[in-house]
Amino acid sequence: MIEVVSTTPFTDQKPGTSGLRKKVKVFQQPDYAENLIQSVFDVLEGFAGKTLVIGGDGRFLNREVIQIALRMAAANGFGRVLVGQGGILSTPAASHVIRKYGAFGGLVLSASHNPGGPDEDFGIKYNIGNGGPAPEAVTEAIYARTLAIDAYRTLRAPDVDIDTPGTCELGGMTVEVIDPVADYADLMESLFDFAAIRAMLGAGFTMSFDAMSAVTGPYAKEIFEVRLGAPAGTVVNGTPLPDFGHHHPDPNLVHARALHERMMGPDAPDFGAASDGDGDRNLIIGKGQYVTPSDSLAVLAANARLAPGYAGGLAGIARSMPTSGAADRVAEGLGIPLYETPTGWKFFGNLLDAGMVTICGEESAGTGSDHVREKDGVWAVLLWLNVLAARKVGVAAIMADHWAQFGRNYYARHDYEGIASERADALMAALRASLPDLPGRATPAGAVSAADDFAYTDPTDGSVSARQGVRVLFADGSRAVFRLSGTGTQGATLRVYIERYEPAGGNLALDTGDALAPLIAAAEAVAAIREYTGMDRPSVIT
Ligand code: G1P
Ligand code: ZN
Repeated sequence: MIEVVSTTPFTDQKPGTSGLRKKVKVFQQPDYAENLIQSVFDVLEGFAGKTLVIGGDGRFLNREVIQIALRMAAANGFGRVLVGQGGILSTPAASHVIRKYGAFGGLVLSASHNPGGPDEDFGIKYNIGNGGPAPEAVTEAIYARTLAIDAYRTLRAPDVDIDTPGTCELGGMTVEVIDPVADYADLMESLFDFAAIRAMLGAGFTMSFDAMSAVTGPYAKEIFEVRLGAPAGTVVNGTPLPDFGHHHPDPNLVHARALHERMMGPDAPDFGAASDGDGDRNLIIGKGQYVTPSDSLAVLAANARLAPGYAGGLAGIARSMPTSGAADRVAEGLGIPLYETPTGWKFFGNLLDAGMVTICGEESAGTGSDHVREKDGVWAVLLWLNVLAARKVGVAAIMADHWAQFGRNYYARHDYEGIASERADALMAALRASLPDLPGRATPAGAVSAADDFAYTDPTDGSVSARQGVRVLFADGSRAVFRLSGTGTQGATLRVYIERYEPAGGNLALDTGDALAPLIAAAEAVAAIREYTGMDRPSVIT
């Protein structure tokens, strides 16, 4: 039954910020997915007879790759696979299932917020037994293996029925098709005051959740409409589609524009939210009030005690380096530590495992806690609802209050997409080369006070991750950060993160664009963005 198939390496299987993401057409090449999956199994040790979790965000190619992965898991000696019904598991739900059932690890099939469909993106990520993305040492070993692989193991067997819950046998391995929603919804119910949220919704509080035709639809319907009693229709775009209905399932102000417009309009509900392709990101908009992800992290951390799951307080907070310092002020106020990590959720895993932090977040619309080892979109929405139910005021009032207490971190991210890779690399190389000369240099935002390339030493295991983004700092605490995206599948994307802090009592109601204008000009000048990219403005501002 087991077949050992000879193969030759692909040279482009280096995992990025979050697993391997490529165009569907690349994944459709014979042996491409097989090589990667075998390379994952080859670097793992001790999984014989153990459990593997497999699920994905339902995008185009999901079902095919799940069948490949099932056969290969059996041929490689796993004892059991838990697979979400229909091949569906949101990324946070996969993380929870891995943890709840003590699985050895999991394969999460997703390209997150990237578009789906035959001409769009697909991705494969391996998560370890703590439920989180494999750390860098593992992803590097996987990549090294992809360059040397000469065979993979599979079975000659028909497809498994992944649409009917229940158990079947595949080459000596048990395949269990599980309800993708139930375990996750139960976890949410254990963390939040569902009775208070239900009462708030029953008393006329209105909300809209845009699932962007991606994976969170079934989760959101079960949790918001069924368990919390929100009216049918609260969840929009609630059916996962292989091409996300041509949406770009990234919950930001560009791709979730319809929701944003509604929330700024006269008939806005009290609360609006959205999640991304695989359910780990979140967008929060109150009636007439957008909340930046960095601010959302800070507000959730400051108010987490209002939710039963966090009533004991937080051990600490972690944020990625480009995320604004708003959470730092909250940590200071709470008297708890704040950790600054490189971009990517994989860096939070060790801190969470060690009990050093409870809540983590990234400026890229990712927030989460120690309940799983991934960021979690629906979780963030529920924590907001719990806070709103407890404080009995609206989102705008909560923000005004927060800034009055902690000051405000004006913040924006400018993305320059589709740059030729050589040009983007040249820009970063020149910027790095200029680091020693930057301090003292005059810019439209004043003189640069310091500049460096961020490096991180993991406090739990001492591992070092260098070259994680160039930081240009100004005397008043303002900064511009530059890095290249590690999740794209075409060309390069330059991300420029711009931040200015305004203390409590200062100018807290400025327009963000106005507040940041001198810094934006400084960032463009320091990195010679126009010269290198030929672009005179970013393609996306979030
Ligand atoms: C982006 C975000 C990063 C996030 C990652 C996965 O990575 O910036 O915060 O962890 O997606 O969702 P990037 O494309 O910047 O490498
Ligand atoms: Zn995602």
